[in-house]
Amino acid sequence: MTDIKRSRLSADAWDELHFPRPGVQEFDRVVERAISRRGFLGGALAFGSGAAVMGTSFLQGTSALAQQTSRFAFAPIAAQTDGTVHVPEGYKWQALVRWGDPLFGDAPAFDPAKGVPAEGSDRVFGENTDGMELFSIGGREILVVNHEYTNDAINLPHTAEGLPENAEDVLTLQNLQGVTVMEIVEGADGWTVVVDGPLNRRITHNTKMRIDGPAAGHDLMKTEADPTGTASLGTFNNCGSGRTPWGTYLTCEENFNGYFGASGEMPTDQTVAAGYQRYGIGAKDSGYNYFPFDPRFDVSVNPNEPHRAGYIVEIDPSDPASTPVKRTALGRFKHENAATVLAPDGRVVVYMGDDERGEFLYRWVSRDIYVPGGDTSTLLSEGTLSVAKFNDDLSGEWVALTPEATGMSAAEIAIFSRTAGSAVGATTMDRPEWVAVNPLAIEAYCCLTNNSRRGTKADDGSIRTNAGGDPMTVDAVNPREANNYGQIVRWRPADNDHAAEAFAWDLYVMAGNPNAHADGHFAGSANINEGNLFNSPDGMVIDSTGLIWIQTDGDDSNEGEFLGMGNNQMLAGDPVTGEIQRFLTGPFGSEVTGLCWSSDRRTMFVGIQHPAAPFPDGEGTLPRSSIVAVKRADNLLVG
Ligand code: FEO
Ligand code: CA
Ligand code: CA
Ligand code: CA
Repeated sequence: MTDIKRSRLSADAWDELHFPRPGVQEFDRVVERAISRRGFLGGALAFGSGAAVMGTSFLQGTSALAQQTSRFAFAPIAAQTDGTVHVPEGYKWQALVRWGDPLFGDAPAFDPAKGVPAEGSDRVFGENTDGMELFSIGGREILVVNHEYTNDAINLPHTAEGLPENAEDVLTLQNLQGVTVMEIVEGADGWTVVVDGPLNRRITHNTKMRIDGPAAGHDLMKTEADPTGTASLGTFNNCGSGRTPWGTYLTCEENFNGYFGASGEMPTDQTVAAGYQRYGIGAKDSGYNYFPFDPRFDVSVNPNEPHRAGYIVEIDPSDPASTPVKRTALGRFKHENAATVLAPDGRVVVYMGDDERGEFLYRWVSRDIYVPGGDTSTLLSEGTLSVAKFNDDLSGEWVALTPEATGMSAAEIAIFSRTAGSAVGATTMDRPEWVAVNPLAIEAYCCLTNNSRRGTKADDGSIRTNAGGDPMTVDAVNPREANNYGQIVRWRPADNDHAAEAFAWDLYVMAGNPNAHADGHFAGSANINEGNLFNSPDGMVIDSTGLIWIQTDGDDSNEGEFLGMGNNQMLAGDPVTGEIQRFLTGPFGSEVTGLCWSSDRRTMFVGIQHPAAPFPDGEGTLPRSSIVAVKRADNLLVG
């Protein structure tokens, strides 16, 4: 096992290291039933039609779309294994911004030998770009971007092991994460950052936050520095993104547990200890080494500090002086992204995944309705959080996490949402990553990226569980044991109402590899073929034309079970026919994550996180997490 002190791995690489996939095991009868009922084997193989993967019910009401010919305005590209980005013929890409690029005129210059100095590290574009959204504000193009985590070794080259050695090193890492708000502009030489744009802003691990909603002011939220339990510092492990109809940005705190460690005794209070167990907070952090130098992250000293992370945070990009708000009503878990949509009555619906093996898919519905032009400051303060239950008969329901149903108070449900979900029997999922809502049909999709432990057995012969003890039994929506490829689930709410209790679901795609597996299950669904192999779907956005853009964060070894998949990539999927084609490939070692469009939709912005290759500047340069701008050479629309 690799020493934790080495340069931090991505969350997925760390996971794979500590919980390697077992060899492929035999499917049990449950899988057979789930797959064959859906027509995966019969329909797919007999007719070779991508549509066979979808239940018939999903095709009803979309016949107009179905009559269209191919939706794809590009010729798909082959899998790649090199160190750069590839796009289809007739398209071009350029780097818009890299880790360390200046946002302000007084920012330090990027020095590959020394990294970014502590002084001024909050004046540059942070590391490991992830979810992002573009806002048009007063004629300005404002891009808001997450910075998920840091690769310490390249950020702190002066340290022996890439581990912070003093408070200054810690501050550097804290400054290089969080969120960037920056103005961008398209000129003769393409897209650039407007240095010193009036709305430019960095939000870091030290930016003042306001805590709102049911958990605000609760005893579990109070610390010595904040006896009110309503004001915290920083937003953490900002993974996927979201946006509200009223023009604010939602940043999603994912693996927040990894920032906390203990210099002495762990808390013994039963409620606190049980929460730590469920959320993976222990004496050892995941390698940031904050806690020896910043007592805020030392749980021996500040046992409640972790309760103040793991939320959806709302940011107003139009006001650089505004205080970001932690919306505890939307629950505390390893938030992936936040997909918002309005119910027919105007209530705000937010779909959210909890990215950990066997954790749940959530939905939140606001109490109040959105009125354009009205006061939106408390819209995300009160509502109902629910978890998804997927039945094997392709029906499902959202189960509300109420005090009656869970035996917990509203504040406890907000702080320990996972525990509340377990109490009502939520379906354990194969790591829910991004949710995307189709703007052209009443349906939503979620990437279930993989789950190496699904259906596998512990040493005592019992089925492995999530951290709450809920078994990860193979079921229809998570139908593969030791699932190393992932799938995308789709649901349609009852009564065409995203706030309805019931839904019907199906699988849009099961990734797989027909070359490595003659067996139908791991070969993937019918819409997987030689030309579009991928694993571990993660980022996902549906564009204004209804095309599904799927980004991957998987095994890019291009060997064995992953042979033919190449580097991580972005594909486009047709929601009606199920056809999927590869559009972009990232440099070796990178994850492709984060996607949005310019206001004129002639440019798409794509995030390249943690490249291992010297990207984007080539041989002899450091690998730098970057956002690339992709355009058609003829400047026509790209989304
Ligand atoms: Fe940050 Fe689950 O991806
Ligand atoms: Ca990542
Ligand atoms: Ca992700
Ligand atoms: Ca992932």
